[in-house]
Amino acid sequence: MTHRCPRWGGHTVRILRVTAAAVLAAFTALVTALAYAPDARAADAYPQGAAAFQTNCAMCHGPAGAGVPALAPPLLAEPARFAASPEGRRQLALTLLYGMFGDITVGQSHFNSQMPDFARLDDAALAATLNFVVFDLAHAAAEIRPLAPEEIATERAHPLDAAAVRAHRKSLVAGGS
Ligand code: HEC
Repeated sequence: MTHRCPRWGGHTVRILRVTAAAVLAAFTALVTALAYAPDARAADAYPQGAAAFQTNCAMCHGPAGAGVPALAPPLLAEPARFAASPEGRRQLALTLLYGMFGDITVGQSHFNSQMPDFARLDDAALAATLNFVVFDLAHAAAEIRPLAPEEIATERAHPLDAAAVRAHRKSLVAGGS
């Protein structure tokens, strides 16, 4: 036995359902547009890096690099700190080239997951992506030197595994986590 609404026929119910779906779709589009609006305000200093970030990184770290709890850390502070020292700059290049695996602490939050490697992207693309992260997301000071493709090339010549990248990070961070 099929259920029929006593006052509306099945046809009317179907139209109402379609209308509800259309309203929901329009609402979702509006929310998405609003969520991306802040990005449109300030011009990115590294637009090519921004495009690469949206393609390769945003699905885990979020479109504005705020991170996702238990999935991927925020990129709004540490990258700027790393970019200020030679070993920190190596750390950034290593993370993108070889990924990272193991427990890390960022701010008050723990992450224990796997960052995939991006060795398939060339040195210029990785440098641009890192510069977007360091300067556009983490707001590094203007006197910090942008990462150069040569710095990526240097680390590409000495492969590490993702656990070793995490160990190198640990050696850099005060408190050792
Ligand atoms: C599949 C999800 C995923 C993708 C895609 C991804 N990451 Fe990550 N990323 C992670 C995780 C997870 C960690 C932390 C790894 C850990 O727990 O050891 C991380 C760590 C990092 C770190 C180190 C942060 C710190 O404080 O040391 C940087 C920098 C970073 N990612 C940048 C990027 C960039 C740039 C891209 C795109 C090219 C990218 N990630 C793509 C998941 C991802």
